[in-house]
Amino acid sequence: MSARVIHAKDFVAEAVELIADSARIAIATHGVFRLGLSGGSTPEPVYAELARSASELPWQKVQITFGDERCVPPDDIQSNYRMSRHALLDRVKIPDGNVFRMRGELPPAEAAADYEKRLRTLAERFKQRRYVHDLLLLGLGEDGHTASLFPDTDALNETERDVVENYVPKLKTHRLTFTFPLINAARHVCFLVRGAQKQSLAAEIVAGRLQLPAAQVRPDDGELTWLLSP
Ligand code: 6PG
Repeated sequence: MSARVIHAKDFVAEAVELIADSARIAIATHGVFRLGLSGGSTPEPVYAELARSASELPWQKVQITFGDERCVPPDDIQSNYRMSRHALLDRVKIPDGNVFRMRGELPPAEAAADYEKRLRTLAERFKQRRYVHDLLLLGLGEDGHTASLFPDTDALNETERDVVENYVPKLKTHRLTFTFPLINAARHVCFLVRGAQKQSLAAEIVAGRLQLPAAQVRPDDGELTWLLSP
């Protein structure tokens, strides 16, 4: 399926509308909205606006996962979970049991195996082999990475597992990350890419002219959207 490219006039508002619309459709269709959050800085204002404007969503029917996490405790300034909690999760009525945090405080291999087990257990409830996100949000790094799938790292080659620890030499640290099999199992993947310096990179990836990690995001049966803004 070809990607849908949206050149946003109001990036935050259009991202929130896409998320809220996905939620309404998923909940109407199968009673739950399985949303994967991306990390970094781009999504923070989107999450804050989502909390402000979509508070009426039935958050008790929303499940939250995290596409990747830094190997730090949940209250660490680097934590994607911390960012999402401050911007969104503390500001909506979502039950704690609906938020599935990657336990970055554990040894990386243990944290990855723990999270993968939790997602597989959830998937079994839906009689699915692996967890199927209704909407998975992803960011784009200037080196073409997405989640914590960085160029020239081992996780790029994972074909079976859903969640792995990934040593990133350029950062001199491990990260926890979804793998391409889990990402591509999603019903809808949406890249949120904001910043003039990333627009040409995104365009090259969408055009298939660059074989960088983000270019390997091709949902098996789902939709792919790129929401772009300089
Ligand atoms: C992370 C992210 C990562 C991020 C990109 C873009 O943990 O940092 O998941 O993949 O989405 O690096 O980050 P910015 O939005 O901060 O540019």
